[in-house]
Amino acid sequence: MKIFTRQQFLQHTAMAGAAMLLSALEGFALTMPDKKIKVAVIGCGSVSGVYLPHLSKSPFVELVSACDIVFSRAQKRAQEFNIPHQYPHIDQQLTGAPFDLLITLTDMQEHGRLNKQALQNGKHVWSEKPMANTYKEGKALLDLAKSKNLRIWGAPAVVNSPQFAFMSQAIREGKLGKISSAHAHYGHLGPTWSAFFYEKGGGSLPDLGVYNIATLTGLLGPAKHVMAMTSIVTSERTVDNKGKIKVEAEDNTMLLMDHGEGVISHVQCGFNYFDPYGHEGKGQQNPTITIWGTKGNMGLIGYDWAPFGVDLATSFTEPPVRHLPDPGTYVWQQGASVIAESLITGKEPLIAAEHALHVLEVIEAARASGNTGKKIQLQSVFKWPVV
Ligand SMILES: NC(=O)c1ccc[n+]([C@@H]2O[C@H](COP(=O)([O-])OP(=O)(O)OC[C@H]3O[C@@H](n4cnc5c(N)ncnc54)[C@H](O)[C@@H]3O)[C@@H](O)[C@H]2O)c1
Repeated sequence: MKIFTRQQFLQHTAMAGAAMLLSALEGFALTMPDKKIKVAVIGCGSVSGVYLPHLSKSPFVELVSACDIVFSRAQKRAQEFNIPHQYPHIDQQLTGAPFDLLITLTDMQEHGRLNKQALQNGKHVWSEKPMANTYKEGKALLDLAKSKNLRIWGAPAVVNSPQFAFMSQAIREGKLGKISSAHAHYGHLGPTWSAFFYEKGGGSLPDLGVYNIATLTGLLGPAKHVMAMTSIVTSERTVDNKGKIKVEAEDNTMLLMDHGEGVISHVQCGFNYFDPYGHEGKGQQNPTITIWGTKGNMGLIGYDWAPFGVDLATSFTEPPVRHLPDPGTYVWQQGASVIAESLITGKEPLIAAEHALHVLEVIEAARASGNTGKKIQLQSVFKWPVV
């Protein structure tokens, strides 16, 4: 048995106490003396082509491996971004070159299963949206991560934009008076490359509505109840990977959220929206998100994942003022790089797994409300205000 002197004992207990005060993130950061996190990417399709340029420039990231069930895609990305190891299956990736963080960029329906396997094998996870297929599955992932002292986060990264911060601050400072209502919309004509967007578990809600839901709950607080109508406007589509397919998931949604204290918001999203400004919405001057209060209203110009300005109206006689916050380093594809940095520095990011989980619960409730015509009560919450 080791005998401690009184001084050693005091030192030892002080260190143990300090370790207990450290968050999992700070604790992990202490184990990373070389200040780079080993990253593995799974899913080497369209979005990986936007993530990898950002990740490869991050001073906190070492890209270790790329995996795709279409192996040639993993090989192509590996060549483009100098990634030393490539795999055709997650089992090989998990037992291959060691890494700390899995970035999941596959079909949405695969996220829950792959994220679980990564956590079970001791890896942190950044997942494209949604984190899982159901709230229950997502909550189990978060519990699993906590039980293993690991972290999981899910896209989107909208709360990181300076425009989000501006809007959040304006609300908290009372510039709009008492908040009453909000509206948000996002849509385009739908992806043409992969069938999963239109298969069960896909749809415009988890692909597009997810951004507006994250922004509105981020600004107005967790939703308490949800009501929605969903429909399929285009019942057949032709996509690159499967040819002609039957559309099974909603491609048109109207969603209402009750945030409590009388505040009600509305999100509309769909894969049948003609937009003269295109998928990116570049150059549009009208708000995609509007928040109303008793003393003012505020409109976000540009989509919330790529915003550029905020119009603030607080006067009956003066026109609204366009605010153009410094865009800083924000881009929508920064999520994984930002949490890689957090894992190295131990500094908690604004993006929270609990918020992503809440958004997932809203999506699931919207589907349930659309199917049953009922108002659905939610159970999840997250730390709010976000900024
Ligand atoms: N494409 C975009 O602009 C974009 C933007 C933001 C978010 N997203 C999100 O990113 C995710 C991927 O979308 P995408 O457009 O890149 O789709 P995609 O079809 O282009 O790519 C998905 C890739 O995952 C691979 N894959 C599927 N199951 C796999 C598995 N079990 N193991 C390994 N690889 C697997 C597929 O072979 C494919 O190459 C989705 O969640 C989507 O909502 C996409």
